[in-house]
Amino acid sequence: MAWKSLREWSEDLKDRGDLVVVDEPVSPEYEIAAYVKKSCEEEGPAFRFTNVEGHDMDVHAGFFAAKRRILEALGGETKKEAETNMVEASSDRIEPTLVDDGPVKEVIDTEPNLDEIPIVTHNEKDVGPYITSGVQVANLPHTGTRGQGIYRQLVTGKRELSLWSPEERRVGYAYRVNAEEGEPTEMAIVIGASPSVIFGSIANVGHDIDKYSVAGGLMNESVELVPGETIDVDVPAHAEIVIETLIHGDEKNPEAPFGEYPGVYSEQNENTPRVEVTGIMRREDAIYDTVLTGLPPNEDGMMNWIPRCASVRASAQQAVPNVNQVDVKIGPSGGNGVFQARVAIDKRLDGDPWNVISSVLGGRSQAKYCMVVDDDIDLDEEAEVDWAWETRVQPQRDVYTFPTMTGAPLDPSGPKRQAQKMGIDATIPMDEDSERYEPTRVPGKDDVEW
Ligand SMILES: Cc1cc2nc3c(=O)[nH]c(=O)nc-3n(C[C@H](O)[C@H](O)[C@H](O)COP(=O)(O)O)c2cc1C
Repeated sequence: MAWKSLREWSEDLKDRGDLVVVDEPVSPEYEIAAYVKKSCEEEGPAFRFTNVEGHDMDVHAGFFAAKRRILEALGGETKKEAETNMVEASSDRIEPTLVDDGPVKEVIDTEPNLDEIPIVTHNEKDVGPYITSGVQVANLPHTGTRGQGIYRQLVTGKRELSLWSPEERRVGYAYRVNAEEGEPTEMAIVIGASPSVIFGSIANVGHDIDKYSVAGGLMNESVELVPGETIDVDVPAHAEIVIETLIHGDEKNPEAPFGEYPGVYSEQNENTPRVEVTGIMRREDAIYDTVLTGLPPNEDGMMNWIPRCASVRASAQQAVPNVNQVDVKIGPSGGNGVFQARVAIDKRLDGDPWNVISSVLGGRSQAKYCMVVDDDIDLDEEAEVDWAWETRVQPQRDVYTFPTMTGAPLDPSGPKRQAQKMGIDATIPMDEDSERYEPTRVPGKDDVEW
């Protein structure tokens, strides 16, 4: 948990046989992504590629391809523990500490060239190489705090990128506001920071909260920051690489197609800004890292899993007092980590499931479907969820489709940013004899062996 960088975590994983070092030559175009895709399908290992064609720099990949590593990164033995840690870190925050120097300043390059970094092309029809693992940081004009998030960035030149960060995002909002004043926005792209900085940056907290402090809460230790070189943005001292940039919000730089977490390609986006690279700081032996997006199972869905579970729980708990488990479906058996929310409750009133469903579907998790089950169903057991859905649901009584609401930006099935949502009450009606729903059991099953 107290790893200061991805590198420290990777050493730990290697010692435990959960990171494979690949010394054979690999191409940054598709081949690294192919290893990660297979690992996502098998919940396999993370990788360090030491021989990337055309580059001297190593590449880390696949850290978030398996649920066990997501839990480990969040310091939880179980999903509930990881979720609790994420929630507690958002309230028991530890502010970062500014220091003068750190490993990320070993090399300072004011004549930057992105071609020197092995930025990976992931899916077949991606328009080009994308930075998918960067934690972007900017100072927010609307709150006066630092603002962090993970936003995809297409490489469009040796010193030029695009950026996809919609207006409700921290950095997306900041650059639009600054552009209205005729000003560019200074933004750092942090590569290879600690898992806590990475997960802190996708915590669902208000724009007035510096997410480095959430990372501090996760690590139980203050994150050390160093000032930027060509821009006035503070970055983690122990990161591998920091790309310093200016976002020119009034200049357009189209991006996409790009394979996104729902499993389809985003359409070309004309309305994305030009991002100019002003400098690069890095460790002497810096390691680039990448995250696989695209058809689930993928890594960004997997990274979304626990933060989305925390959002679903917060919404559900606002609706009823008795939330047991929550889950957002993701993994080799399906689900993209966002769209399918499940909640198990100790139902006391017949309307409880619908209070939960409307709160979750109207809440911040971006879930499109929400199923509520009784708390005898273990949401971690897909077969039990199926059984509840098969035996406790009468569709006309228990399934409801909501009118169009604001939805996830990347759902291809509806008009942009709109989604029709569906709730499923898979609980036993209060007035029915619960014996009708009793699961059959074969006595002695656990005692036999062959
Ligand atoms: C691997 C990965 C890639 C992501 N890419 C994007 C992206 O390109 N654009 C975006 O708006 N959000 C993206 N997200 C989601 C945001 O990073 C996340 O919602 C974050 O909390 C946004 O912070 P903000 O809403 O405070 O700006 C990505 C998340 C992950 C895990």
